[in-house]
Amino acid sequence: MGAHDNKVAIVTGGAQGIGKGVVDVLSSEGAKICIADISEEHGQEVANSINSNGGSAIFVKGNFEKSDVPEKVVNECVDAFGSVDILVNNVGIQPLTSYKNVEETPEEMWDAILNVNLKSYFLMSKYSIPHMRNNNGGSIVNIASVQGLQSMKLVPPYAASKGGVLSLTRQMSLDYAAENIRVTAICPGTFNTPMVTNSVSKDVNLDEALKGFGAVHPVGRIGEPEEIGHAVSFLSSEKALFITGEYLVVDGGMMAQGAWDTGDQG
Ligand SMILES: NC(=O)c1ccc[n+]([C@@H]2O[C@H](COP(=O)([O-])OP(=O)(O)OC[C@H]3O[C@@H](n4cnc5c(N)ncnc54)[C@H](O)[C@@H]3O)[C@@H](O)[C@H]2O)c1
Repeated sequence: MGAHDNKVAIVTGGAQGIGKGVVDVLSSEGAKICIADISEEHGQEVANSINSNGGSAIFVKGNFEKSDVPEKVVNECVDAFGSVDILVNNVGIQPLTSYKNVEETPEEMWDAILNVNLKSYFLMSKYSIPHMRNNNGGSIVNIASVQGLQSMKLVPPYAASKGGVLSLTRQMSLDYAAENIRVTAICPGTFNTPMVTNSVSKDVNLDEALKGFGAVHPVGRIGEPEEIGHAVSFLSSEKALFITGEYLVVDGGMMAQGAWDTGDQG
């Protein structure tokens, strides 16, 4: 018996990176998976691999910048598997060209980041919740970021989107608690995904750069996508029925460390 046998899970941005880590863990624990992603190449490959290894998965192609995509994703999932029990709102973008202050941020860049990172979470929840209600409950896990808690220079739309995800999580948890629909969030530190590896200049040794990112995490390394998968699995399982409206920081201790700690104390 797997922890998620006979459950149906939608994972947005599930073709690569953290989303794929979530897909791998939930499907290995028995869930039927709907992968919703812009990348047909990677999304179809992940679905095919699950199906050929005895699991069940579908891929739905869509660009979450567009507001008609969430309803289509939920409908295709319900057509294939009959319901939605778990929604993992994971899709997110942080284009390298977006590192600017508010004066220099083009309105289109603001809209693109907010549409993908926050509005899609609202719309995916809006269309999934009626199906969860039909099942007498469900779980929504929103992937936020440590950048929803503290920030760095020059990331206004990304920081605003992640703060918004945490606020939306609290809000939805209150509005649906009585219906047994739990809403939680995860704040990852730095993870080994295309978002992070693609941010490293081609002139720099990738392994050295990732080691450098790892060094700011007290455990001394960056995270692997499956480590978010295990956190999602727990939060959406029967073991977490009293947890809602809360976020879980999965960051190798980074947020536990004050900015005054230079690491020189030995
Ligand atoms: N990687 C990290 O270090 C890190 C840290 C904190 C939070 N996060 C958050 O975790 C989530 C996943 O990040 P990741 O690092 O795995 O990202 P990633 O870029 O490595 O993968 C993102 C996935 O989403 C898909 N995608 C991108 N834009 C899309 C769109 N418009 N429509 C549909 N699909 C789209 C991509 O094809 C890809 O499969 C994001 O919300 C991100 O903000 C990541």
